[in-house]
Amino acid sequence: MTRIAIFASGSGSNFQAIVDACQQGRLDATPALLICDKPKALVIQRAEAANIPSFVFVPKNYESKEQFESDILLQLKEHEIDFIVLAGYMRLIGSKLLSAFKGRIVNIHPSLLPAFPGLDAIGQAVKYGVKVTGVTIHFVDEGMDTGPIIAQASIEVNSTDTAETLQKRIHEIEHDFYPTTLQQLFSIKGETITR
Ligand code: GRF
Repeated sequence: MTRIAIFASGSGSNFQAIVDACQQGRLDATPALLICDKPKALVIQRAEAANIPSFVFVPKNYESKEQFESDILLQLKEHEIDFIVLAGYMRLIGSKLLSAFKGRIVNIHPSLLPAFPGLDAIGQAVKYGVKVTGVTIHFVDEGMDTGPIIAQASIEVNSTDTAETLQKRIHEIEHDFYPTTLQQLFSIKGETITR
């Protein structure tokens, strides 16, 4: 069974959806570790409730990204992690982790990339006035939401939508789409996934 580490910085609703899917047998993976860079994030409580160990760190206590990623890497080794799943982790992954987990890091982003990368993708989409937006799951590279796309789901934007109403519907899609896509990915892992 694929052992995954989930990286998150916030409320962790996607973390929860993935953990639930694993527990319910919809996703053949073991959520073995949470990595979190925000000591007050709600996702830490979710991990505790699910009995999943977490490594919580404060980036500013380190001199460089390379140093905190070295500590993360030790944790990933200790917990025998095969695959990294980013779920609202608000940092770019550095070369240390990228080279150790080449082709084995994925992210979910709340827009149809390459439109609206970076922060507040949903707010950007509403402001721009697009009629269709969505969710992208992609491999992670050194850029900001630039890695090869694995899967996308679209959603119509209504004229009455605000960033809040759209975010709610996008989250609902994400909570089903992320575990389903991961399941497909893990079932072909090792055969067709190369970079
Ligand atoms: C999600 O919308 C995800 O697409 C983006 O960050 C958000 C995380 O939300 N990368 P949550 O913490 O999983 O609730």
